Amino acid sequence: MPQTTQHSLTHVLLLWITILSIVQVVFITLFFTTGHHSRALSSSTVTPAMQFQANITPSAPSELMGKVEMLTFKATEDNRKITWATKNQDQILVSVEPGETVLKIKKDGYFLLNLQVTLSSCNRTMGSLYTVSLNSKDTVILQGRINTNNCSTGLLGKVEELNANDSLEVTIIRPNEDDIIDENEYLTHLDIVFFPRN
Ligand SMILES: *[C@@H]1O[C@H](CO)[C@@H](O)[C@H](O)[C@H]1NC(C)=O
Ligand SMILES: *[C@@H]1O[C@H](CO)[C@@H](O)[C@H](O)[C@H]1NC(C)=O
Ligand SMILES: *[C@@H]1O[C@H](CO)[C@@H](O)[C@H](O)[C@H]1NC(C)=O
Repeated sequence: MPQTTQHSLTHVLLLWITILSIVQVVFITLFFTTGHHSRALSSSTVTPAMQFQANITPSAPSELMGKVEMLTFKATEDNRKITWATKNQDQILVSVEPGETVLKIKKDGYFLLNLQVTLSSCNRTMGSLYTVSLNSKDTVILQGRINTNNCSTGLLGKVEELNANDSLEVTIIRPNEDDIIDENEYLTHLDIVFFPRN
């Protein structure tokens, strides 16, 4: 009886090994035939135009990165008038006339706008009366309250689609005009990241 069991087990194993070998042969054949086909395709059937397309695709992301622009503006308050200046002087993306409170957009696209305004002093009991907003003509893009514990709005941010000739202006409402802005750039700044619209 044990001999018969061994015998049938051997048969099952032999059958299993045969099936595995056949599957292996089929896969090896498929591998070499498709490999041969794709080599033939690349050498003869691809037209010059298709090869050109394939060559430019990898560089597309870096082309987009080249058009992303970043600017940061520092605020100065003089006689209750807040003006903005940037170290980047080329004025290709955003222009601002000396002494002007309004920034002018010069390109169409998507703008990530970050604003933080900090005052050098603020009155806790009148906290609800301090408001800071970033407007484009009559449209409010960003609005926030001054937190009277640290006299700052913290960071306010939004993505906005803007067009050439649109304007940006920061307005500060405060109950006491002696609460002037803190001009340190790390406390009061307007930052712009621009993505072109295709
Ligand atoms: C804050 O405002 C309140 C209400 O007007 C006033 O009574 C108080 O003197 C002000 N505090 C300071 C430090 O100016
Ligand atoms: C002021 O406090 C607010 C709320 O706690 C915080 O978000 C903001 O970053 C603070 N700003 C500064 C300049 O410390
Ligand atoms: C922007 O305004 C200037 C002057 O008002 C005008 O000459 C120019 O065509 C405008 N540009 C666009 C893109 O509307």
